[in-house]
Amino acid sequence: MKALILVGGYGTRLRPLTLSRPKPLVEFCNKPMLYHQIIALRDAGVDHIILAVSYRAEMMERELTDLASKLGIKMTYSLEEEPLGTAGPLALASSYLEGSGPFFVLNSDVICDFPFNDMIAFHKNHGREGTLVVTTVAEPSKYGVVIYDEVGCIDSFVEKPQEYVSNKINAGLYMFGPEILKRIPLKPTSIEKEIFPGMADQKQLFAMELEGYWMDIGQPRDFLTGMCLYLGSAERRKTDELASGSPFVGYVMVDPTAKIGQNCKIGPNVVIGPNVVIEDGVRIQRSTILGSTKIRAYSMLNDCIIGWNCDIGRWARMENVCVLGEDVQVKDELYINGGFVLPHKEIKASVTEPQIIM
Ligand code: GDD
Ligand code: MG
Repeated sequence: MKALILVGGYGTRLRPLTLSRPKPLVEFCNKPMLYHQIIALRDAGVDHIILAVSYRAEMMERELTDLASKLGIKMTYSLEEEPLGTAGPLALASSYLEGSGPFFVLNSDVICDFPFNDMIAFHKNHGREGTLVVTTVAEPSKYGVVIYDEVGCIDSFVEKPQEYVSNKINAGLYMFGPEILKRIPLKPTSIEKEIFPGMADQKQLFAMELEGYWMDIGQPRDFLTGMCLYLGSAERRKTDELASGSPFVGYVMVDPTAKIGQNCKIGPNVVIGPNVVIEDGVRIQRSTILGSTKIRAYSMLNDCIIGWNCDIGRWARMENVCVLGEDVQVKDELYINGGFVLPHKEIKASVTEPQIIM
């Protein structure tokens, strides 16, 4: 079986992290976002994945080749000369997708307990062109909203509605029969705005409700919420991904190469990446620390995403969704409130109000 993953787009909402790495390669819970999906697809029987790439293809290819061969998956990189949106990439990759039954299509920035096996059964059962997974959210206006009947047949699809329509939204996981390819031109096309509404009118699109948690992790605040949900799910699934014992509190994930000093309090809801060094007396809550970063003694971090190779000084305090790009230095004793800091910066004064530091 085949799957196409949409890995284009500039990931601007996840800056400054995406200034160093394309969004699908940013580590979420110690694995590049894409790995979570690729592994789940393989477990559902997918043996050929087409990555629809519109920029930084070399980096993607370099970092995925090993994983693919380890998992026994064939990877094809379908490179767009100009970004083709969320539908155009299917037309570009049509030679791979035609002629071998239904295939998966995924947005690359969503996390959940991927229901791929259920999708296969659901799709077969209704027998129409498309299956779309739906979930329920509190703030539907930033998603595609779906209205469907009791058997799941979709009546209408509205991308990013201005007015409230429903709280059932498109989770960004699809299964399509090859017939969908006839609907898609080889030019920049939005599947949500230009393809789904027509399919809904013709009763060719069915909604499958997702069980359990779901999050689009393409923005810092949601990335951190998604991290908490993923850690909770890891606990329920008993995956042995979580650390236990002192100095850990609640759900914490720590790469085995990280070093943690004395008298720290780490957690709840913390992810610590490879080669991170945490000195004595540090407190961290609800944060992700990416690889090779150093957190010096007695610092306190709450609600932060700290990029790769950063250096946080002693007695620093950071909170309220701070996101540091790669290789940022924060001097000793500073307070940072909701700062987004671009890569390679040195912060020498406190940041008391949320802002972007260029
Ligand atoms: N190859 C390629 N080319 N991929 C693209 C392009 C492009 O030109 N533009 C966007 N993508 C990819 C992104 O990398 C992402 O994986 C996916 O398409 C969706 O784009 P986003 O920019 O993340 O869209 P969104 O989050 O605003 O909305 C979408 O996802 C929501 C669920 O998270 C829509 O599908 C909504 O309907 C949906 O509810
Ligand atoms: Mg998104």
